[in-house]
Amino acid sequence: MSDFVSSSWGYYIAAVSIAGIIYCIWLLFTQRAWLGKNLPKGEEMGHVWDGNLTELNNPVPRWWTVFYLGLCIFGFGYLILYPGLGEFKGLLNYSSAEAVREAQAEQAARVAPLYARFASMDIAQVAADPEARQIGQRLFLNNCAQCHGSDARGAPSFPNLADGDWLHGGEPEQIMQTITNGRVGIMPPWGAVIKPAEASDIAQYVRSLSGLAADPLRLVPGKRGYDSYCVACHGAEAKGNTALGAPNLTDGTWLYGSSEATIVDIILNGRHNEMPAQGHLLSPEQIRILTAWVWGLSNSSGATVSANK
Ligand code: HEC
Ligand code: HEC
Repeated sequence: MSDFVSSSWGYYIAAVSIAGIIYCIWLLFTQRAWLGKNLPKGEEMGHVWDGNLTELNNPVPRWWTVFYLGLCIFGFGYLILYPGLGEFKGLLNYSSAEAVREAQAEQAARVAPLYARFASMDIAQVAADPEARQIGQRLFLNNCAQCHGSDARGAPSFPNLADGDWLHGGEPEQIMQTITNGRVGIMPPWGAVIKPAEASDIAQYVRSLSGLAADPLRLVPGKRGYDSYCVACHGAEAKGNTALGAPNLTDGTWLYGSSEATIVDIILNGRHNEMPAQGHLLSPEQIRILTAWVWGLSNSSGATVSANK
């Protein structure tokens, strides 16, 4: 009931539920003449359809009445035993959230011995273990592929996790941090400070850093702009900064794209990108296996061992 600000909603819902059942019983009661035995039966009611389909005043069958009353009693019984009357939790104290928690605990207990085997291995060994890789891939497909792609190769604004290029660092501890707590990548907008023409010079310079075609005449003003506005995060050599999530601009790997128009847009409008935290959705054991799996995508030890198997 947490969505409701006032507890009176609970009473309101309880009153509506009980009144509904009482109404059903009352309805049956008002129609009891139909159930009686001493009423004339089989009389025509004067309604005829299709020429010969006639309505008679026969009572409803007894089984139907019993069934109807049975359902009303079931309704009361259910509301006494299970939650359904506003904030009353029911005599059995059942809650679907609790049932899910129990099922999860049961599942965790079942897989605990499996995970125990991986707990004693280091990340490189887990990354190379065929069973751990299978589990890692399944976890990835269920929890991560919707953003990073089923091959982990990403899409614009969702980083490729298999290319050895890292925004936030590729050491196992850094990957684990990323998965557990999430990350934000914030590139501030410069539109208020930098004119579009200057942004376009800077974009030319940024393109030249990874060997893309650039206008040589615009590199000098471009570099001047870069040195004033961009070094703080991307570094004097533009190699990026994993502590800030600022990408390396020299490696030919692009989160958004390398065209001048894209880079100008990023400079003028900035970017606010977010990897949502997964720590509350996955167990520490699952996160460790996922870390090893992701790490193994770009670290040859994992990949080579699996290729040899
Ligand atoms: C809702 C989309 C979404 C989901 C789901 C998601 N991610 Fe991400 N992830 C992102 C985005 C966006 C970034 C980039 C953040 C940034 O720009 O700094 C990211 C970044 C990362 C990074 C850092 C990459 C780097 O270069 O440093 C790793 C590692 C990662 N995700 C792993 C995972 C794993 C493992 C899962 C599943 C448990 C997952 N992600 C689920 C959107 C998602
Ligand atoms: C406050 C730190 C900060 C400053 C200053 C900054 N950037 Fe960034 N930049 C970032 C971060 C963080 C990202 C990653 C955004 C994301 O994860 O979506 C980024 C992303 C980019 C990208 C996208 C790279 C790709 O792979 O697609 C380009 C291009 C870029 N910045 C260029 C610049 C230029 C040019 C300047 C100077 C005008 C600049 N940045 C100034 C932090 C900064």
